[in-house]
Amino acid sequence: MILMKAGGSAITDKSMDFSIKAHNLERLGRALATATEPVVLCHGGGSFGHPLARRYDLSGEITTPEQLRGVSHTNIAMRNLSNIVCEALIEGGCTPFALQTSAILTADRGRIDVFNTAIVHHVLSTGFIPVVYGDVVYDATYRYAIVSGDQIMRRLAEAFPGNRALFLTDVDGLYTADPKRDPGATLIRDIALADLGTVQAGEAGDVTGGMKGKVAEIAALEGVVTEVQVLSLSRDGALEAALRGGVGGTRIIMK
Ligand code: IPE
Repeated sequence: MILMKAGGSAITDKSMDFSIKAHNLERLGRALATATEPVVLCHGGGSFGHPLARRYDLSGEITTPEQLRGVSHTNIAMRNLSNIVCEALIEGGCTPFALQTSAILTADRGRIDVFNTAIVHHVLSTGFIPVVYGDVVYDATYRYAIVSGDQIMRRLAEAFPGNRALFLTDVDGLYTADPKRDPGATLIRDIALADLGTVQAGEAGDVTGGMKGKVAEIAALEGVVTEVQVLSLSRDGALEAALRGGVGGTRIIMK
C-alpha cells in the first residue's frame, strides 16, 4: 500500500484564501484511479487552513471567544476542502471515503494523543481510499490544536509499517536550492535519508524553509516507511508513473 500526502501547495492556491488548484485536483483523481495497490490519502490545509490558523492565532492555549470562533471556522474550512478533494477523486473514478480527522484523533499540547487508526484500516479493507487531513482537533491541554498532515503521516506509517510514502507538492522534488529563486538549483534524483542532512547543512547548497520543512517531514518517517518519493502534482503523468513504481521526482531511500 501507499501512504500519500497531498501538500497544501499541491492542491490549493496559497496566494488566495480558500482557493484550489483545480487542474492538480483533477490530476490527483485521474492518477489515483490507476493505482493498483491500496492508497491512504492525507491532505494538507493550504489556503483553507493556514490563513485561519494565523488569523485566529490557533497556537498554544485556546482561551478567547475569538479563538474559539476560529476553531469553528477552521473545522468547517477543512471539511469543505476535504469535500472538494473527495469530489475530485470521485470525478476521476476513485472511491474516496473521508474521515473527519477531528473525529478520529485527539491531541495533547499539539501532538497526536489518541488516533483511531482501526477505522482507517476498516475503510481501506473495503476497497475505499481513506481520506484524512491536517485539522483542528480536541486537545487535552490547549482545548484545541492544529495537527498537521505530517504528524498524521507519521502515525499512519506506524500503524501501517513497511510501506512507501509519496509526498505531492508543486515542484518536481527536493532541490539543492530553492528552484523558484535560484536558477542554479538542481533536482536531487536519489538520496539516502542519512545524506539529506548534508543537503540541509549546505554542502550541496542551501535549501529553503519550505524544503527544510519537507526534509523534516520525511526524516520523521525514519524506521516506518521503506522509501519516500517527492513529486509534483502540477506535472502531467508524474503521479501515475510513481504509482506504477517508476522513479520520478526525488526518491529517498529510508534504510
Ligand atoms: C494544516 O495541515 C491544517 C490546518 C492548518 C488546519 P498541514 O500543515 O499538513 O498543511 P500544508 O500541507 O502545510 O498546507
